[in-house]
Amino acid sequence: MGSHVSKTVADELAPMQIIDGKSVDAVSGERINVVCPSDGQVFASIPASGKADIDQAVGAARHAFDEGPWARMPAVERGRCLTRLGQLVEKHADELAALESRDTGKPVRQGKADVTATMRYYEFYGGAADKIHGDTIPFLDGYTALTMREPHGVVAGIIPWNYPLQILARVAGAALAMGNTLVIKPAEDASLTAIRIAELALEAGIPGGVFNVVTGYGREAGAALSAHPLVDYVTFTGSPPTGTAIQQAAAANNRGVTMELGGKSPQIVFADADIEAALPVLVNAIIQNGGQTCSAGSRILIEKPVYEQVASALSERFSGLVAGPHEADLDLGALINPAQKQRVEDFVAAAEEAGISVLARGRVHEDAPKGGYYHPPVLFGAVDPASALAQEEVFGPVLALFPFADEPDAVRLANDTDFGLVAGIWTRDGARQHRMAKRVRAGQVFVNGYGAGGGIELPFGGFKKSGHGREKGFEALYDMSATKTVVFNHG
Ligand code: NAI
Ligand code: MG
Repeated sequence: MGSHVSKTVADELAPMQIIDGKSVDAVSGERINVVCPSDGQVFASIPASGKADIDQAVGAARHAFDEGPWARMPAVERGRCLTRLGQLVEKHADELAALESRDTGKPVRQGKADVTATMRYYEFYGGAADKIHGDTIPFLDGYTALTMREPHGVVAGIIPWNYPLQILARVAGAALAMGNTLVIKPAEDASLTAIRIAELALEAGIPGGVFNVVTGYGREAGAALSAHPLVDYVTFTGSPPTGTAIQQAAAANNRGVTMELGGKSPQIVFADADIEAALPVLVNAIIQNGGQTCSAGSRILIEKPVYEQVASALSERFSGLVAGPHEADLDLGALINPAQKQRVEDFVAAAEEAGISVLARGRVHEDAPKGGYYHPPVLFGAVDPASALAQEEVFGPVLALFPFADEPDAVRLANDTDFGLVAGIWTRDGARQHRMAKRVRAGQVFVNGYGAGGGIELPFGGFKKSGHGREKGFEALYDMSATKTVVFNHG
């Protein structure tokens, strides 16, 4: 129970990864520098693993699944391990939140909110582990037919950098509750808390080899993991092109996948809406985590009679928004890395060049370290629905407004992208709330609200290019298992 782990992330900032219950360096001995986005300074390092390390971790997970106690443990016992992990997350909340903020640049309060959600995931799946069961099926005379849910086996989880703790928790919570074993490859830009959680998992009594974390670059460790023939199922959250690469790798072994590939999610404001209630939610849905959120509300569709009113109220709020270092806990922090900053700058420049008007711009705090990866929030008005800004995921604090004429126009505009992850609908008309909720193509629809960050109980996932499969809530337990049908012929 954690006795192998001699050094933790808290002790020193050159942590090892966790394979087979032990703290180990990369086989190559190479390491990746860890940079704080708030100032661009190196403050830690992580192992730079590749195929050899992935082979070891998958081997350990395979052995733990096939031979170890985990998959055969009573579900209630597995659940208790997860519940204890949630309690350990709570106990180490301050440490985890500080580490997450420093590694990703997210404001302190967001790091804390992420830890709260992380604790809830382990608590929820700890409680759910023994509450999922099969059916008996009326069949031929002389037979009894029943179903049971079986774990896939070794689950590979490839995790992005935007919500490292939370996304790991939603994968690990559901996968472990069902009795799978895990090999996690966190993002090279945000691996520190994943290593820490794997240490805490050992302390919680999850046997060695069940919860492995291998750090390294996506093109090396990530590619080796998704292509590994001893992996039974792959789950991924991140960009559509990387999702395609991972699906192709898994397809070579004919393995199942869950894909969560982001969105271009609309919030739809009708003229009869409670606009005062909507405004802070509209702003937060794109500013939270600097817009680096798969479910960011990056498009606002506004009914024409209130377009000017909503646009000017949003402009006023945007002008006051300030980006700065995570410790300052301002409206938003730095973006994750220089490439992400460049990506956001390129989208903004292209939109301006195409003649789309900037309605408002926030600012970067004067005292923010010059080496940090800051980008001010930008609000664009009357955006051309065919433009890149309207169609593509920016993954930054950039909001696009669109006027619409009537309800059918709103539905058409809402569905007029390749994505379908989340939508928000603002109206007081009850019948319209129901019609819109049905017609908008999105995996989650919020009426007079918006938010997928918390809500760990709510199934989450996309239509179209946003991906397939469902995470979170009880439904994730079905994704992380398969039905086995058993038929008895008793005459
Ligand atoms: P990415 O999708 O390439 O990275 C996500 C994870 O995949 C990381 O752990 C990475 O190491 C791994 N990975 C990368 N290439 C891989 C490969 N060939 N095989 C297996 N694993 C691989 O995203 P990236 O490059 O960090 O960001 C680029 C864009 O992706 C962002 O600007 C944003 O638009 C989008 N993105 C969306 C996220 C979401 O939550 N929907 C999360 C992160 C990025
Ligand atoms: Mg980092």
